[in-house]
Amino acid sequence: MLARRLHGIPPTVFSQMSALAMRTGAVNLGQGFPDFPGPDFVKDAAKAAIEGDLNQYAIGHGALRLRRAIAATWADQTGQEIDPEREVTVTSGATEAIFDAIQAFIGPGDELISFEPFYDSYPTSATLAGGRLVPVTLYPPDWSFDPDQLRAAFSSRTRALILNTPHNPTGKVFSRQELEVIAAICQEHDVVVITDEVYDRIVFDDAVHVPLATLPGMWERTLTINSTGKTFSMTGWKIGYAVGPASLNAALRAVHQFVTFASATPFQEAMATAFETAPQRGYYDRLRADYTRRRDLLRAALDDAGLPTLPIGGSYFLMADLAGLGFPDDASFCRFLTSEIGVAAVPPSAFYLDQARAPLLARFCFAKKDQTLRAAAERLVRLTSRITEMMSVANR
Ligand SMILES: Cc1ncc(COP(=O)(O)O)c(C=O)c1O
Repeated sequence: MLARRLHGIPPTVFSQMSALAMRTGAVNLGQGFPDFPGPDFVKDAAKAAIEGDLNQYAIGHGALRLRRAIAATWADQTGQEIDPEREVTVTSGATEAIFDAIQAFIGPGDELISFEPFYDSYPTSATLAGGRLVPVTLYPPDWSFDPDQLRAAFSSRTRALILNTPHNPTGKVFSRQELEVIAAICQEHDVVVITDEVYDRIVFDDAVHVPLATLPGMWERTLTINSTGKTFSMTGWKIGYAVGPASLNAALRAVHQFVTFASATPFQEAMATAFETAPQRGYYDRLRADYTRRRDLLRAALDDAGLPTLPIGGSYFLMADLAGLGFPDDASFCRFLTSEIGVAAVPPSAFYLDQARAPLLARFCFAKKDQTLRAAAERLVRLTSRITEMMSVANR
């Protein structure tokens, strides 16, 4: 009874691994959400909005106060003043903004270019639009790409490119030089660019997040998508947004009005407070420092367990190398790790069109309490001895 375009769309790997983690009682470092509470000042603002009876439909393209706060934040980050009326749209999570944008720019037979691995909603959103995703490989360990391969991915059917930086699942932060290459090719082919920058506040060491829209000639063709869920650790509120020129916002809004129409009013009000007061609270610096500590904790635990990690510049994920452990693929390792060691991770092959192209790695999320990361570390020390035990049983 399903429409043909839905055939072959599996449940997301995050829900599959979370279900297995729940059944087995594993520490869940799979799905990417914080297990620590979001900030009190944001929760208090939501309670006040509910008590203040801000509970009816918001303006479809976003509560004015929130759009103004987003515009002011964009100006702080980029130095560019934008019009909150026409150049900002609030959506129900970044996922909705990505979906709306892809429906707006991709039609039947059209192609959307994305670096691979990619966030798993991209190909499905392209399929639901009647188009298809064309992947361009990122190569570990630094997840670099070959500009000639990027050029070769463009065809007469290419309508848009979607770029994710800081990148899930690899933790790559695209450098200015790389962004310049991407920008030049997109301008040459005159395509729209959708950028998914939901981890823009979570960068480490000397990595610098550069919004692609700030490069010369890019504002007019770029829709920048973000998520307050990541920035303010409230993923369940699903408040996302898009910033870009009026024409691209209008296209996005044409879809948005019939997908969700408007997002939850009290949560939009609370996020307006969040953006308005975060800088004076030192919130962004603390967020970064907290994530740096969590990354260091998990990285040490994985390295000690014989799972060397790849370098990361941003996001809240670490990729660990499984080479030499004897597993045929990442999914079998992640099932083993969840059920035998009691720690859930996500197999990055889920982020590839052809899973056989995925390198042998596992993705671990460190958006977790120190206590959760320590519990995972205690379990992970058993990894090598458990693998040796299994191998000796198998060889008997
Ligand atoms: C790269 C990327 N884009 C988008 C999203 C979804 O954001 P939201 O929860 O705001 O829909 C996620 C969440 O994991 C993500 O990792």
